[in-house]
Amino acid sequence: MTIREAIAARHSVRSFRTDPIADDIRRQLDAYALDCSKEGNIRMFIRYDDPDGFDSRLAHYGNFQNVNHYIVLAGRKDKDFNLRCGYYGEKLVLFAQQLGLNTCWTALTFNKRRVQQILNQGESLCMVIALGYGTTQGTPHKGKDLKDVMIADHAPDWFVEGVRAALLAPTAVNQQKFQFRFVNGEVHLRSRGIGAYLETDLGIVKYHFEAVTGKSVIVD
Ligand SMILES: Cc1cc2nc3c(=O)[nH]c(=O)nc-3n(C[C@H](O)[C@H](O)[C@H](O)COP(=O)(O)O)c2cc1C
Repeated sequence: MTIREAIAARHSVRSFRTDPIADDIRRQLDAYALDCSKEGNIRMFIRYDDPDGFDSRLAHYGNFQNVNHYIVLAGRKDKDFNLRCGYYGEKLVLFAQQLGLNTCWTALTFNKRRVQQILNQGESLCMVIALGYGTTQGTPHKGKDLKDVMIADHAPDWFVEGVRAALLAPTAVNQQKFQFRFVNGEVHLRSRGIGAYLETDLGIVKYHFEAVTGKSVIVD
């Protein structure tokens, strides 16, 4: 599965089958998470066989079922921490999709107390991502139109293709409060309006754009 195919196939999945994740898949995920952590200067790791992470009233309320594995996004809360967690978390999400797994980003509907317990001292938690083999592949979200999220006069085709990929990205409550601009040959990205988790959203959509176009995005 190519990265473009993974972007198109990914939808949030909250209900999982109880099949185990095989050892060789775990090794690949762990190695990828480690590489991304180093690159992004965060600590991203996977908890396998730990249903307590989603054992909470909020998780049940949010329709999460059989979440036995999850990705933890943690690290030192310095400048751009949430942006980098979004970017590298989504990089791992799409890699997991390529390996046949499903995911759901989760800012609220997990057992925060449990996850806080497994962090190192001084580490901050960004959020977690549910991981496993879904009972379904999820469904496409309703998205904004291209014109709502970009400003570009005479932009090249690759720019539009990148924005299309960004529109397929997960954002908190599907808010899609971002805007791409093509200015003097550069790609700029910023948040628009107010909302929660906007910085993490920006990191996620930045990764989608860059993965598809191979071009760098400047976050303003
Ligand atoms: C930063 C972030 C936080 C999220 N937090 C939650 C959450 O707490 N609970 C939940 O059920 N879904 C959560 N989601 C999933 C979004 O609701 C979902 O990505 C969005 O509705 C778009 O749907 P899709 O992922 O299927 O494309 C979150 C997504 C993101 C990117």
